[in-house]
Amino acid sequence: MNNTLQGKPHLFMPKHYSRIIFLIIAFIFVFTVGYFKSTEPEALRDNIIHETTYQERPVLGALQPLPIITAINKDWVMLGEALFNSTLLSADNTISCASCHAVNSGGDDGFPVSVGVGSKTGTRNSPTVLNSSLNFRQFWDGRSLTLNDQAIGPIHNPVEMGSNFQQIIPKLKATPTFAKAFKDLDPNGVTEKNVIKAITTYEESLITHNSPIDKYLLGDETALTIQQKRGLDKFQQFGCITCHQGRNIGGNLFQKIGRIDEAPPSLLKDKGRFNVTNENKDLHVYKVPSLRNVALTAPYFHDGSVGKLEDAVRLMGRMQLGIMLADDDVDDITALLKSFTGKVSTSGESQ
Ligand code: HEC
Ligand code: HEC
Repeated sequence: MNNTLQGKPHLFMPKHYSRIIFLIIAFIFVFTVGYFKSTEPEALRDNIIHETTYQERPVLGALQPLPIITAINKDWVMLGEALFNSTLLSADNTISCASCHAVNSGGDDGFPVSVGVGSKTGTRNSPTVLNSSLNFRQFWDGRSLTLNDQAIGPIHNPVEMGSNFQQIIPKLKATPTFAKAFKDLDPNGVTEKNVIKAITTYEESLITHNSPIDKYLLGDETALTIQQKRGLDKFQQFGCITCHQGRNIGGNLFQKIGRIDEAPPSLLKDKGRFNVTNENKDLHVYKVPSLRNVALTAPYFHDGSVGKLEDAVRLMGRMQLGIMLADDDVDDITALLKSFTGKVSTSGESQ
């Protein structure tokens, strides 16, 4: 009791000055950082209102069918599609998002690592943009939380589009079709916020419905072949499903590669999520990729080092589960993975 009472006046004694000064500095620091954070473009990106809504179709089990799109603004989708395919987004007008993400053939580019402006090569394989709005994070290492945030990445990346909004906005404004399309949707016309909103709304429309696996999960017993059904049993029994699960058959967890058995040295060159967090526990950790449309997205893994789906399956069995899969296991699981291929459409109904 006495101690606390006696302690009070000491607060202003010289030996506490340093503590008070420290508190004042800390307060100014927190206030300034907070102020700049709220004015930086990220806040702007987080403020983008998305009108797209999905309706889940829950079934029993760890694999879930894709949700149906219940509302989406088709005009923003069309503008987003035009931007996604426009080379005006790159520094030298040679590269569009579609150069590395071919929406009609898997949503990736088919190269081990991507080639951007000036034929510069990156270090990572282009992941599919199909169903990417359903991933819990974006990029192999999950460094973006949202698609809004993600879209800035390639535009600024020197080995992808090497550009920025100061360059892009005047180019779009000077293109009458773009200028009009933006103005029709928003009185502010071409702005960074509207470019991002259009691209991400388009990405939200890229849901690949009607895959055999979804039809099967929704009750059509005939949608999978006998071999694919065997593959599904093995996918579950061996434990692939502990990581590749949910509505995107992946895309909702971080996991280390080489979890049980050492990964090949080439796969260990990139430090993965460690590059983002600098924490040892994140060394060689990646977002578990979605396996939807995986039959169309060779080559595989973050560095595109494995060309054949069968080899990716075999390697996964060994390094993630410590199982040497027999040839017929690999064949059955590969057959199953081929049932994960769907077609972009808004509704889940057969057409
Ligand atoms: C030069 C090739 C290239 C271009 C151009 C490009 N991307 Fe990518 N994209 C990639 C690569 C490579 C990655 C993975 C990078 C990583 O994870 O570090 C990626 C990742 C993504 C992802 C994350 C997907 C996931 O599952 O993690 C999305 C979404 C995406 N890009 C959309 C776009 C959009 C939108 C544009 C145009 C504004 C674009 N990309 C332009 C190569 C490209
Ligand atoms: C412990 C978690 C885990 C388990 C279990 C697991 N995977 Fe993976 N899988 C991953 C991660 C993480 C990656 C990304 C690795 C990389 O790119 O370096 C991946 C990548 C893949 C890829 C490549 C996808 C692409 O787009 O490049 C395929 C195919 C795959 N897994 C199939 C399987 C199969 C089949 C099984 C079961 C035999 C399995 N996985 C078990 C975590 C797992």
